[in-house]
Amino acid sequence: RLVAFAAIQGGYKVVSQVEGELERALKSYDASTKIGFGNTAYYLPVIYSLTGMKCETLEDLKKPLEFARGLLPPHLKGANHLPYLGPLLDAGMAGIFAYEIKEAIRILNQPDYYTFTEDPDVDAGKIWVGPADDTILRKRGVEFVDGSAPGFAAIVGAAPDAETAKMIIEDYQKKSLYIFCAANHNGKTAIEQCLEAGMQIGWNTRIVPFGPDISAAVFALGFANRAAMAFGGVQPGDYRKMLMYNKNRIFAFVNALGDVGTEWAVAAAGAVNWGFPTLADTDIPEILPTGICTYEHVVANVPHNEICQKSVEVRGLKINVTEIDIPCAFGPAFEGERVRGGDLFGQMGGGKTQCTELVKMAEMSEIEDGKVNVVGKDIGDMKEGETLPLGIYVQIAGREFQPDFEPIMERQIHHLINYIQGIMHIGQRDISWVRISKAAVEKGFTLKDIGVVLHAKFHQDFQKIVDKVQVTLFTNQDDVDKLTARARAEYKTRDERVDTMTDEDVETFYSCSLCQSFAPSHVCTVSPERTGLCGAYNWMDCKASFEINPTGPNQPVKKGKVLDAKLGRFEGVDEFIKGASKGAIDTYNFYSMVQAPMTTCGCCECIAAMLPSCNGIMTVGRDYAGETPSGMKFTTLAGVMGGGASSPGFVGHSKFNITQGKFILGDGGLLRMVWMPKMLKEELRDRLNKRGEEMGVKNFADLIADETVGITEEEILPWLQEKGHPALSMEALI
Ligand code: SF4
Ligand code: NI
Ligand code: NI
Repeated sequence: RLVAFAAIQGGYKVVSQVEGELERALKSYDASTKIGFGNTAYYLPVIYSLTGMKCETLEDLKKPLEFARGLLPPHLKGANHLPYLGPLLDAGMAGIFAYEIKEAIRILNQPDYYTFTEDPDVDAGKIWVGPADDTILRKRGVEFVDGSAPGFAAIVGAAPDAETAKMIIEDYQKKSLYIFCAANHNGKTAIEQCLEAGMQIGWNTRIVPFGPDISAAVFALGFANRAAMAFGGVQPGDYRKMLMYNKNRIFAFVNALGDVGTEWAVAAAGAVNWGFPTLADTDIPEILPTGICTYEHVVANVPHNEICQKSVEVRGLKINVTEIDIPCAFGPAFEGERVRGGDLFGQMGGGKTQCTELVKMAEMSEIEDGKVNVVGKDIGDMKEGETLPLGIYVQIAGREFQPDFEPIMERQIHHLINYIQGIMHIGQRDISWVRISKAAVEKGFTLKDIGVVLHAKFHQDFQKIVDKVQVTLFTNQDDVDKLTARARAEYKTRDERVDTMTDEDVETFYSCSLCQSFAPSHVCTVSPERTGLCGAYNWMDCKASFEINPTGPNQPVKKGKVLDAKLGRFEGVDEFIKGASKGAIDTYNFYSMVQAPMTTCGCCECIAAMLPSCNGIMTVGRDYAGETPSGMKFTTLAGVMGGGASSPGFVGHSKFNITQGKFILGDGGLLRMVWMPKMLKEELRDRLNKRGEEMGVKNFADLIADETVGITEEEILPWLQEKGHPALSMEALI
C-alpha cells in the first residue's frame, strides 16, 4: 500500500518538477525553438505513439505535459483519461510522459550530453548514448521482431559492487537479451560498474548505456514503441494496440537495483502499462494491487544470483540457451565485441601470419563426430603478444550433404567464432584473422574451443544436412601452408563454377543478409557476374543456401524489369533492397562504382576507389597494409564505408569479381584499373590478361601500376602514360 502510494506521489512530484523545467526553458528560449531526440521520424516517441502528438518545438511540449497532469488521480475522470487503466497506472503514465519531456529539455540545454550513436565515448568521458536514432532502431529493433533478441532487461540503479553487476548483466547477455541501463543508486550506475569490471558497453554488446537518471528509462519504452510502429504496423495514437503489442510481443522487464523511492516507483508503475514487471533486489511491499495482469507486477527481495532467472520466469519468456562446453560465454550478444590493442593476448592471420579456413565434405566412415584435434602449438604455448599461423579445417559428413554446401558452412565460421566472448574474427577464406583477448585466456580458452563451437553449432543450425563434424586446427607453418595451398585450389574451383554464367542467363538473383548484424543497411545482392563482396558467396552458393534454409539469409530476388542495362539496375532488386534495408537504401547499381554503387560491409575482400587524375580506378585487398594512391589504406577505406553505406566513388567487391564480365562495366569495366597491390595483381595475373584480351587489350596486367611504381596519383600517372594505359583515352570518368 505504502509503495502504491509512492507511485502516485512520484507522479505528482515528477510532473510538477518538469512543469517547472519547461517554464524555465520557455523563459530562456523562444517558444518556437526546435526540440527532439535527433535523427528520428518519431518525435518524442512515447508521447507520439500513445497520443499522436508531434512535439517539434518547446511550445509543443505544453500539451502533453497538461495531458500528463490530467492523468494524475484524483482527476482521473477527465476527458483525457485512458479509460481502462487504474489510477496507479495513470500516475505511472503521467510520470513517463513527464520524463520524456524532461529528457527533451535536457537535450536542448546540453546538446552534447549524449553521444546519440551506437557507442559511448568512454575516453572522452561520455558514457551515455541517449535515445537511439532511427538507424539504430532499424538495425536493432528488427531483432526483437524476428526473435534474434528475445527481449530486453531494463536495469535501473546499480548493484552493490562491480562483480555483481557483471554477473547479472552477463547472464542476460548469454540469453541474448538487450540490457537497457538507466538511473543511478546513490550516484553509482550499473554501467560504470560494467566498465570497472572491464566489460564492453554499447549497442554492439547489447549493454546499452541510456543515461544516468531514471528519466532515461523512458528511452527503453520509446524504443519498444518505435519498434511497434516501424515493424508491427501500430498507428501513432492507437494507445490500446500499442500497449497490447508490447505486452504480447516485446518481452521486457525492469530490474530495480537499489532502494525504490517515489521517482523509481512511478517509472515502475508506468512500465506496467506496457506489461513490463519490476523485480527489485530490495524490500518493497507492493507498488500495485495485484489482479490487473496475469502475472506479478512487482517482486521484491530477489537475490542477485537469481534475478536473471526469476525475471525471465515472471515475464514468461522461453529462452533456449544451448550449453556449449567452452570456458567462455557464447552467443550473439558477444558478436559485436572488439578485441582492442590493450586487451589483446595473441592473434592469428590479419596480415601477420597466414590464417586459412576450409570446410570439406567427408565420407561417413572417414571422420569421427565431435573429434577436435589441435596439431601444433596451442594458446598455452604462446606468450602475450605472440602470433601463430592457423588453419581451421572442418570435415563434414551427412547423408544429405553435398560439396555445394561446403562454402555455406565455411562462411558460418565468421559469426560463430565471433559469438565466443573475448574472441574476434574478421575476414574469411585465406585472409581470416582471429584475435584472442587476455580475458578469454584467463578463463581458459584454447584453440580446441573453436572446434567445440563449430561442431555444436553446425549440428544445431544445420540438422538436416549434418551428421558428423570433425575439426582440425593446425598451427605449424608447414601444415598451414599445405592447407592454404589446397584451400586456394578449392576456392578457385568454387569461384569458377559461375564463370560461364552471365547475369542475362538467370531471372533470379539472391540476397545475402548474413552481415547485417554489423552493417545495418547492408544487403548484398549476388548475381552470377557479381560474387558477394566477401568472396565467400557466389550465386551458386546462395542458391544452395536457400535450398538448405528457405527462410534463411539468402533469399531469391526476381530481377524484374531492367531499368538500366548499362549500370545494372533492376526493378525487382530495388524493391527487395528497399524492404531488406528497412528503407535505408532505395536503389543501387550492380555495374557501377560511380553512380549509386552497391552497399559495402566490413567483410569485403577488396575496396575500389576512383583516381580522377588518372581517369581510372584502383583497388586494394585486405592483405595489403601499405598506402594507396587514393590517399587511404585498406583499413581506412573499410572504416569509412564498411558500415553498410552506398558511397559513390567507392565500392567493396571480391577479388574474383575484378575479372568477372560485369565488373564496373557501367563505368568502363576492367580497363579502368590503373593500380593494384603487386601481390593481388600477381595472384590474378592470368585472369586479368584473359579478361583484358576479351576487352581488346593484350597483357593487360603489365599496364596496371602497383606500389613499386608509386603510391600517389602523381607518381603513377607518367608511368601509365608511358605504357599507354587504355583508361587515359577513355571518356571522362566523372
Ligand atoms: Fe553475405 Fe555479403 Fe556478408 Fe558475403 S559479405 S556473407 S555475400 S552479406
Ligand atoms: Ni561479416
Ligand atoms: Ni560483412
